[in-house]
Amino acid sequence: MIKIGPSIIAGDFSKLKENIKKAEKANVDFLHVDIMDGVFVRNITFGPMVVEAISKMTNLPFHIHLMIIEPIRYIKEFSNIKNVELISFHYEAENKIVETIEKIKSENKKIGIAINPETDWKKIRDFLKEIDEVLLMSVHPGFSGQKFIYHVLEKIEEVKKYKDKKNLKFEIAVDGGLNEETIPLVIQKGANVLYIGSYFYKNKNPLKFLKNV
Ligand code: DX5
Ligand code: ZN
Repeated sequence: MIKIGPSIIAGDFSKLKENIKKAEKANVDFLHVDIMDGVFVRNITFGPMVVEAISKMTNLPFHIHLMIIEPIRYIKEFSNIKNVELISFHYEAENKIVETIEKIKSENKKIGIAINPETDWKKIRDFLKEIDEVLLMSVHPGFSGQKFIYHVLEKIEEVKKYKDKKNLKFEIAVDGGLNEETIPLVIQKGANVLYIGSYFYKNKNPLKFLKNV
């Protein structure tokens, strides 16, 4: 089953409430919340205080995508926010992978590991049995509205094959550049969680086409 999470940073920041309403109306599964620190990525978004404020506007579960260095430092703050269901951190940004997984688990949140487009998925292979989601970036993290990187399709396919072979349970999420053209391709390769930014917020009825995919 395909699950959808709009990426809130792709909407107009002066209309956060409307952006959330749009997600609710579209019957999405969760909200994708991008946290950027200006160090791991060039851009800076917001931190736990703003996420907490947003959480008061909705009951949608939040999937936090941490694009910050040493994410283990902030697991507690994000876990304290009631809507937070899953926390993803970047493999490239953390040396203490096992400890970070343990910490998220101890907070009773779902665990995601994200990897950049050029990172080999085999680097996280040993962690896949411990986590709930692998987040395959299909753009270089930092900004919404970038073009989908097509060579990531191969990675989705390989991860899906490995998952089936080992009978593992984690979900395969894709983030970046998803639209009417690229969504059918990632689904076909085995992705089942789609984080959609600009395409969701720029279109009036963004998920309509999915019925025919
Ligand atoms: C990129 C973010 C993505 C982004 C998605 O660093 O992690 O979640 O907001 O936006 P689009 O779909 O416009 O690429
Ligand atoms: Zn993201």
